[in-house]
Amino acid sequence: MQKQNIDNIEKYGRPVLSSLKFREALSQCHHHSSTVGMHSLNVTFIALGICNMMKMLHLQVDTKALVIGCLCHDLGILDRSHFSSGPEMCKIHPVESADLSVFFADPENRETVYDICRHHMFPLMATPPKTREGWVITLADKISAVGEVALPPVRRKWEERNLKVIAA
Ligand SMILES: [Fe+2]
Ligand SMILES: [Fe+2]
Repeated sequence: MQKQNIDNIEKYGRPVLSSLKFREALSQCHHHSSTVGMHSLNVTFIALGICNMMKMLHLQVDTKALVIGCLCHDLGILDRSHFSSGPEMCKIHPVESADLSVFFADPENRETVYDICRHHMFPLMATPPKTREGWVITLADKISAVGEVALPPVRRKWEERNLKVIAA
């Protein structure tokens, strides 16, 4: 299953992964022990794991939109010099990430990719996602943050896996 997730990230996420923005994300600290780039890959893998379970239940998920949205969901944090951390960052970075994400989305999945980025902070922010994929990232983002902050061995394992994607 991991091989399939790596293939999907390669297949759908390559334009984001090779962008200057994402390269910058790999060097910007996030959750104290991770980077925005590593965190975004963690969220993408977890979201794909949830997506695989949903597909087993015959629930359809747009995998391409999910990969692009997850990789972009925190890119707005890179502009954090424009706003203070805390509540202001929680409110503004999803908007900036969503605005950036549309450059990587296709016309047919743009709304879904935008929704994934714009509403990933729910329930910390009041407005819930409108799409199934948007709900998937709300869960994946929280699971990822717990692993990165509270479970260093898990974080290190995730980082080793992520390097396979980054190095490709
Ligand atoms: Fe975020
Ligand atoms: Fe995040």
